[in-house]
Amino acid sequence: MKKISAVILVLLAGVTSSCMTATAQERGAVYKPSAENIAARHWFQDAKFGIFIHWGVYSLMAGAGEKDVAEWVMEEKQIPIDKYERLATFFNPVKFDADKWVQDIKASGAKYITITSKHHDGFAMYDSKVSNYNIAKRTPFKRDILKELKAACDKAGIKLFFYYSQLDWHHPEYYPRGRTGNVYTGRPQSGDWDSYIDYQNAQLRELLTNYGEIGGIWFDGWWDQEDGPMKDRWRLTETYKMIHDLQPQALIINNHHVAPYPGEDVQPFEQDLPGENDAGFNTTFVSNEMPLEMAQTMNGSWGFNLVDDRFKSTKELISALVGAAGRNSNYLMNTGPMPDGQIQAENIKTFHEMGEWLKIYGESIYGTRGGPIGPRPWGVTTNKDKTIYIHILDWKDGEIFIPLTDIKIGDATLLGKDEKILYEMTDDGVIFKIDREALQNWDMIIKVNLL
Ligand code: GLC
Repeated sequence: MKKISAVILVLLAGVTSSCMTATAQERGAVYKPSAENIAARHWFQDAKFGIFIHWGVYSLMAGAGEKDVAEWVMEEKQIPIDKYERLATFFNPVKFDADKWVQDIKASGAKYITITSKHHDGFAMYDSKVSNYNIAKRTPFKRDILKELKAACDKAGIKLFFYYSQLDWHHPEYYPRGRTGNVYTGRPQSGDWDSYIDYQNAQLRELLTNYGEIGGIWFDGWWDQEDGPMKDRWRLTETYKMIHDLQPQALIINNHHVAPYPGEDVQPFEQDLPGENDAGFNTTFVSNEMPLEMAQTMNGSWGFNLVDDRFKSTKELISALVGAAGRNSNYLMNTGPMPDGQIQAENIKTFHEMGEWLKIYGESIYGTRGGPIGPRPWGVTTNKDKTIYIHILDWKDGEIFIPLTDIKIGDATLLGKDEKILYEMTDDGVIFKIDREALQNWDMIIKVNLL
């Protein structure tokens, strides 16, 4: 008995140390972004605003009457694969019109789109040759929506990114399993992990070779193995290298919620402004070297949910966009199109309202970086060349003190009105006089031109 446990211990130690080696290797990999990649990062940071799209056969289930269920319905309702696969046979979004999507999205002022190419359910929303579990082969609709969306994006000058779930509840070789997609799926209790990673990489290769130049790949689902046996076996270095070899400008974003791995180009934050952690996902530090991106739902759901009417107001969403910009971050705002192929009317209305706002105030967002002073309870600052934008989101008084020192102000105006703003320099900063009427704005912006 003792002998057996000693053998097990030795074996376990072997497994642990080989895992640690894998992590150490991936963590220690040397990554020097290419010139194209650096240029793409600048483009990305200038773009500031993107729209996230969660669309798949799960959209048909529309949350099954529960506010907090959407693209996770398979897991949350424990739907076995043989039953879940039937959803594809009903998926016929006859009202899908890629040009209409892109027009409405463009009207929001967003510069790029990130769409689910394959979510955790494993269903590919494009014509994949390495698996027939995809929209072209399994649905009556048959169309490759990624192809159509890419063509519409190219026409409109919008960049397209593909979300790709590393976690897969459908693929039999995704084994050993992690936190989710377990016994209820009906898969065999065996499998060959590496052949799953080969499959994943073959799908990624398709996404990077069949759709022209893309913005990048947005990974998700790594966390499924965080406390599982395959934590260190994702072969990230190899996958990331393949992506950058195929498309050097493609930005790699991985929503794993841990410190960025070499090869990643943007650090994402889920449902929280960088540096905050109300949602409980973002426990790691905020990089000051990589571009940042915050992803947020417009209601409480990523995929379409019939009963989730917790729509955030346009003011709240603009505050999030502004709050992200002031933290040097992009804002990726999510919509979950309906099973008929249309974007929800509530979201379209908000897109247009945000776009109207950005037409007037966009100069304080696009092309800026986080400003000279960090976030404050009243708002944030952004900066572009010799201009500082002070975004006052929450303030009630007739003057506001901003701790900006060592600057020479040329003039200060109220953005959108071109009215001069009076100010007084003190040793500790500047006191701006505020037009109380302007405080009624969603975001009162003082534009400070420096000498
Ligand atoms: C989470 C969820 C996933 C969603 C993603 C978006 O990781 O698992 O359903 O796609 O967040 O940020």
